[in-house]
Amino acid sequence: MKKIVFVCLGNICRSPIAHGIAQTIVERYNLDISVDSCGTSDYHKGQSPCQKSITIASKYGVDISNQKSRPVTRADNEVDYLVAMDDKNVADLKSYGFSNIIKLGDYALSGADIDDPYYYPDLEGFEKIFKDINIALEEFFAKEFDI
Ligand code: 4NP
Repeated sequence: MKKIVFVCLGNICRSPIAHGIAQTIVERYNLDISVDSCGTSDYHKGQSPCQKSITIASKYGVDISNQKSRPVTRADNEVDYLVAMDDKNVADLKSYGFSNIIKLGDYALSGADIDDPYYYPDLEGFEKIFKDINIALEEFFAKEFDI
């Protein structure tokens, strides 16, 4: 079984959306892949995803409400795909000694960051990150898993 772990800073806004969309794809195509997510910080350890991420994901049929934030651990260095949302996540993971990090925006987004939406006042920004993540994940699964 291949393992994918998505990483952002708090593991409450962006990586839970990526986790949820990827899980939906894995189930739709019955793939032998485990999906998880984590944060480079422990700021929100044990918390549910932020409400705006839950709302946007739900609008597109993806339920992320049962996820819980956790910080990255050594075991995450052993996975097949450690997928960061932005350059800061990549730099932080490198500084912790992680290797084989990829960036989600390298798929379909010309290397762009998935913007940190933590201080976005309304759902519009969350709608944009949902769409960015979704487009990038379609390309990721097409390239890496031939679907
Ligand atoms: P995330 O968003 O990295 O997409 O989960 C953030 C969550 C929390 C904070 C920043 C970004 N924070 O500073 O607590």
